Amino acid sequence: MKSKRMMIAIFSLMVIGSMLLAACGAAGGGSGKIKVGLSFSDFATERWKNEDTLMRKLLEEKGYEVISQEANHDVKLQNDQIDNMVTQGVKGLIVIAEDGAAAATAVDKAAAAGVKVIAYDRLIKTKNIAAYLSFDNVEVGRQEALGVMTALGLPGSTTWTKDNPAKVVLSGGSPTDNNAVLVRQGQMEIVQPYIDQGVVTIVADQWVDNWDAATAEKMMENILTAQNNQIDAVVASNDGTALGELQAMKAQGLAGIVPISGQDATADGCNSIVKGEQTVSVYKDIRLLSPKAVDMMDALLKGQPVTGLQEYTLKILTGEDLEGSIQALFLPVEQVTKDNVYDLIVKSGFQSYDDVYRDIPEADRPPKP
Ligand code: BGC
Repeated sequence: MKSKRMMIAIFSLMVIGSMLLAACGAAGGGSGKIKVGLSFSDFATERWKNEDTLMRKLLEEKGYEVISQEANHDVKLQNDQIDNMVTQGVKGLIVIAEDGAAAATAVDKAAAAGVKVIAYDRLIKTKNIAAYLSFDNVEVGRQEALGVMTALGLPGSTTWTKDNPAKVVLSGGSPTDNNAVLVRQGQMEIVQPYIDQGVVTIVADQWVDNWDAATAEKMMENILTAQNNQIDAVVASNDGTALGELQAMKAQGLAGIVPISGQDATADGCNSIVKGEQTVSVYKDIRLLSPKAVDMMDALLKGQPVTGLQEYTLKILTGEDLEGSIQALFLPVEQVTKDNVYDLIVKSGFQSYDDVYRDIPEADRPPKP
């Protein structure tokens, strides 16, 4: 009798237990799946939302539960979000840092708690990251500057001489993003020799906080006022800021006349290229980077060997006096202009035909691929 009651009690406990488990599962709390966190600086830049969707899908296909947050350019909020994801039990974090120095605080804590952290696209300045995956950011800068210098007719121009140097604006990205620094390094490799020859002069050299398009527009308005609209080229650092600057240039009749660069081959940037306003962009295929990050996270969490990484000192990557080294991988990039945007960007499906040729009369469009 006693044992029958005991059996019923045990059985009831089992039923209640499984009901509780099911309830937790539905709430996402106890699904039994390993959690991975995605931490984004912002969703203002076109690419990040796409990468959020892509990485979430790939991680879920591998059976992970994904928590994703974006910090709206707020450095403190991003650190709080990272701390919070660690509290929620994530075992891996893929971080797009708003500020590579500030994010180190939260990332160090996460790593100390055993969380594997991948610095995605942007460096986080700590040796406690498991990997840093990005594109060749110095080459991005070289290709931007090359596109603009070529449009100016350099080298070999007879227009730009020591007596009449081309007046060039340098527009950097967010100063707290190490990529902006690497991009500038590449730009200067190309531009500095022309400055040294005296055929280029820098009339403004500024950086755009948060890579914000509206800030870039305002900055360009001020530069144009100060220079009496006498500028010959803009070495800008991404499509978002270039398009902001083009607004200010358009208001002065300079869009399509003064060459300007960008990067990311965004839908809007490519559209501006086919309209003849933005001169050059740089193609970084996120369809290759996102799966790399997901596969690497999967291997890290399974304790499997991670391949394809190379060691770099933080000193080399930042130019700052930082200790330690990290494992990194940089994917190649390609220049995009009016001449190859169709083949490189549209045909490959990176951007849609309709987005790239938006507002372009039917007769002036290439055939649909
Ligand atoms: C990325 C660029 C992006 C920029 C603004 C950089 O770190 O490398 O692709 O345009 O941030 O979000």
